[in-house]
Amino acid sequence: MREEKLHIIPHQHQITPEDRLRQQGHTAPLLWFTGLSGSGKSTLANEVERRLHERGYRTFLLDGDNVRSGLNSDLDFSEASRQENIRRIAEVSKLMTDAGCITLSAFISPYARDRAMVRDKLGPNNYLEVYVNCPLEVCEARDVKGLYAKARRGEISNFTGISAPFEAPENPTITVPTHEMSLNEAAQRVLEAIEPKIKLKSVNS
Ligand code: ADX
Repeated sequence: MREEKLHIIPHQHQITPEDRLRQQGHTAPLLWFTGLSGSGKSTLANEVERRLHERGYRTFLLDGDNVRSGLNSDLDFSEASRQENIRRIAEVSKLMTDAGCITLSAFISPYARDRAMVRDKLGPNNYLEVYVNCPLEVCEARDVKGLYAKARRGEISNFTGISAPFEAPENPTITVPTHEMSLNEAAQRVLEAIEPKIKLKSVNS
């Protein structure tokens, strides 16, 4: 409806996302890593990307601190800004998967409604949810960036897990308890769950 008002008429492209996938030989789902700050989302997504790349897949990685210092640098951590953060990331992720890259997106994405919006945007077969499930106590004890200590002192407001909610996924594609396994095992587990869902013609030919 909005598009009609703005007189925007999408052009039909001659080369479709399917054409690109056929050429490169594998499908390109979105791997959506969700979990608390410090749960290991970025570390895990990086390692999974490295392994996929090594096996010959085309990949692309998006993560919270990077996207928030560029595209989304105008957004804060209010509920509305987080929703806008995820909406933009969903759009970028869709462009990347349409371009044929297996896209790994690592964002806290604390609201179930926002994650559902991403799934609806990508379609259920192209959205694979990885719940990086590490208890708050462990994330807080790690406090890699020192942000939990600041949040406890009241120096950061709306901090996920302390003063803002995290709605745990109810039906993720895979749950990875990063506090109970090595990075190697965690990455292995993600690959085992997702690789059968990446349809191949022949990656290396
Ligand atoms: S999300 O909630 O909108 O999905 P996103 O993944 O983009 O968050 O960004 C999270 C990163 O921002 C954290 O890893 C942390 O480094 C930083 N950060 C700064 N302030 C906050 C806050 N109030 N709550 C959570 N993370 C914060």
